[in-house]
This record gives sequence, C-alpha cells and structure tokens, in this order.
Amino acid sequence: MPGLIQTLIGEIERLPTDRLFGRVSSVRGLIVEIGGVQVNLSVGDRCRIIARDDRSVPCEVVGFRSGHALLLPYEGVEGVGLGCRAELTESAPMLRPSDAWLGRVINAFGEPVDDKGPMVLGERPYPVRAQPPPAHQRQRVGGKLDLGVRALNTFLTCCQGQRLGIFAGSGVGKSTVLSMLIRHSKAEIVVIGLVGERGREAREFIEDDLGEEGLARSVVVLATSDEGPLMRRQAAYATLTVAEYFRDRGHNVLCLMDSVTRFAMAQREISLSAGEPPASKGYTPTVFAELPRLLERAGPGVPGTGSITGLFTVLVEGDDHNEPISDAVRGILDGHIVLDRAIAERNRYPAVNVLRSVSRTMPACNTDEQNLLVNTARKIITTYEDMAELIRLGAYRMGSNPEVDAAIHYYPMIEAFLAQPKEEATDLDTGYAMLKGILETQPGGEAGTH
Ligand SMILES: Nc1ncnc2c1ncn2[C@@H]1O[C@H](COP(=O)(O)OP(=O)(O)OP(=O)(O)O)[C@@H](O)[C@H]1O
Ligand SMILES: [Mg+2]
Repeated sequence: MPGLIQTLIGEIERLPTDRLFGRVSSVRGLIVEIGGVQVNLSVGDRCRIIARDDRSVPCEVVGFRSGHALLLPYEGVEGVGLGCRAELTESAPMLRPSDAWLGRVINAFGEPVDDKGPMVLGERPYPVRAQPPPAHQRQRVGGKLDLGVRALNTFLTCCQGQRLGIFAGSGVGKSTVLSMLIRHSKAEIVVIGLVGERGREAREFIEDDLGEEGLARSVVVLATSDEGPLMRRQAAYATLTVAEYFRDRGHNVLCLMDSVTRFAMAQREISLSAGEPPASKGYTPTVFAELPRLLERAGPGVPGTGSITGLFTVLVEGDDHNEPISDAVRGILDGHIVLDRAIAERNRYPAVNVLRSVSRTMPACNTDEQNLLVNTARKIITTYEDMAELIRLGAYRMGSNPEVDAAIHYYPMIEAFLAQPKEEATDLDTGYAMLKGILETQPGGEAGTH
C-alpha cells in the first residue's frame, strides 16, 4: 500500500491553510445565490455549502446576478437555508489519474464507485476542463485501429486519433456497438464515459459487456441519469481527462462516450438554470460552444505522446438526423457511423447504414485494392437498394440489366457480411478477405478468379 500512503501524505500537504467563505442569500429552484465572496469568484469555480445537517454540498459557480454569485449544486440542496456557510474550494477542478486506475469505475470527481477501495492518485494534477492541444502542434492521425467489427473495419476504417460519432435514434443499438468495440477492438487502453444513461444499463454494461478481462484495460467514468446536470457534464470532461493522462504516457487510447447528447442536455439544463436564453430546440448557445471544446480534446496528441481515438454516441431525437445536436456533432467529428432503424427492424445488427456513413480519413489509409473492394461493394448496395421495391414486388425480370442481376446475386452475401453477432470479433485482414471472397463469387456460379 505504499502508493496509497504517498497519496494520503500528498493530500494532506495540499490541504489549504486558510479558507474564504460567503453566506447563502437565496435558493431558487436548483440555483443557490451566495453573497460575501462574489468578488473572489469566477464562473467555473468550486464552492462547498455546509447544509444545516453539516452535510457538505459541492457546487459550481455558473453566473452572477445583481451582485450575487449563482451556484449550481452537484447534489440535492435539501438542508441548505439562508445564511448557510459557502466555502471556496480549489478554483480549477483537477483529477490525479494514475496507472492504478485501470480496472476501476469512478464518478465525475474521480472517486471510486466500485468496491475496490480508495483510488491511488497520480503525481500530476490534470485539469478536468483541459484545452485541446494546439492544432498546429498535433500529429496527423496514425495507422488503422482494428475495431473488431467488420462493417466498421472495412467500410468505415478508423485511424488512431480519429473521432467518429455513432448516430442513431433510441434503441437502434448504439450502446451494443460500443460494447462490441470494448470487447473486440485492439486498443491498448479504453476509457469509457457513461454519461446520463440508465443505472440498470450501466451495471449490465460493466458486469456483462466489459467483464473482468475488458475492465482490466479500461477505466469507466460513470454518471447515471438520476445524477444532477453538473455531475453528468463533469463525467464527460473527466472521461477525456483520464484519456489525456494515458495519452500523455504514450498510449494509444480508445475513448468511448455514451452519450454526447446527454452531455449536451446536461449543459442545456445548467445554462437554462443560470438564465441563459435558449436558441435552437431549447439548446442554449453555450451548448454549441461546449461541444467542440469537449470533442476536440480527443484526437492525436503532440509529438512524444500517444493519441485518443474517440467514438461518441449521439442519440438522434425522433430519428431526425438534422436535429441541432446531431448536426453540430457531425460538423466537429472526422466521420459518422449511422445506425438505421429500418435495418435494425429487419434484424440485421449492427444496423450500420454504410451508404449514409462516412469515415473522412478512409481512402487515404487503405490500399488501392481495399478501396476498390469497398467501392465495388458500396456500388452493389446502391444498385440493389435503388431497385429494391421492384425486386421485392417481382416486377424486375432477371437478365434485363446485368448490373442489377449482379447486385441481386451479391447483395444478400454483403448483408450477411455486415451482420455480426455481439460475441464475434473479426480483425481488419479477415474482414477484407471475407469481402474479397464474396466479390469473387460469380453470379450463378462458383468462386471465380478475377
Ligand atoms: N448486435 C445486436 N444483436 C442483437 N440485438 C441487438 C444488437 N444490437 C442491438 N440489439 C437490440 O436492440 C436493443 C437496443 O440496443 P441498445 O441498447 O444498444 O440501443 P441504444 O441505441 O443504445 O438505445 P438507447 O437510445 O435507448 O440508449 C437491444 O436491447 C437489443 O434487443
Ligand atoms: Mg444506449
């Protein structure tokens, strides 16, 4: 336990010797106003209100009004009343990740929420709200990352340091795709942010999908839907902070977040409570300013460090892919994976719609042969889907168009290729080999040689 003792000594040394405090002057809904220390505070600072029952309620400064500071609590405000003491704590929230965090489940403050004892803290503090590395100093995206899911590996190849969104309506399989990535990808380290998802799902995810083996190379940051908006927002920041720690140690990190939409919703709640006027669909301008600040933190690091490959799920409300959050996130990321309800309804999982999905780094990272394979397969899918109605109705006569004839032959095989049971992994080379094998079959005959 020497690590733990060092951690404790460090904690004691870091305790502040003097403390500024103000008093609660009003509580309105979720917002607590304090007076007395407002000139010492700025937006984003942390305070701690001592409630009547001596409970300490952590809060964050979200704004100022008529000479008072507006605080939003991380937890419930029961027991907080007029005149309660509000102490200023450290100004910028920090985490102290260490390698010993692998295998652990933590909350937005970096506190353990599993039953594996206290966290061993690292030497260096990492800010929860770090700036992304300067664009001109960042490395280019690296080589391919094997995601273990063949629809993605072949049609939407992902490179180290790339950021992709997984877009789908509710219940189309976003979380299931993430669980496949956790189990099957070849990433060295996986940092998973479960932001605002259901508590039951989070537990199943950690126990069943991740399992002991998956957890051993992962850190999970968890804020369930019943936690306050500040906790949910901070869980998203903390996920990136932990990923940045491992990136700075030279690792290629896979950062998964379920979901960015819940992060945006948390920010919306925070902004609206602080009195910011809503813009698009109730989302405030701050939401659209915060999204790139969060998502840009994933990506390649500066030379001498590793990279953060980011896969972020986006809940597409009402299956409308043009709703404001989807639109904003799509514009920030280097590609989007679209899961389609119609495909899920015909029971083809993962329900990736390869025609509507794009990986912006893809043609450059593949060989000419691989690009040709993928483009040929895409063309077959397009041809078939254009004619699908006629074919289904029996209105198409075989022989009238050789391209359509070929598509009718290849399409079911490509569909079968795109389907992949949750437990099965397919590496990059096998994926391409399978696709090649399909395209080498001859319509109406056995495997050919071209
Ligand atoms: N690979 C798969 N194989 C079989 N069924 C699947 C697969 N992926 C998803 N499903 C089905 O779809 C359901 C919803 O999946 P999942 O929870 O991953 O969706 P989601 O998009 O994360 O949903 P939400 O928007 O509610 O978070 C699952 O309960 C399961 O029935
Ligand atoms: Mg989900």
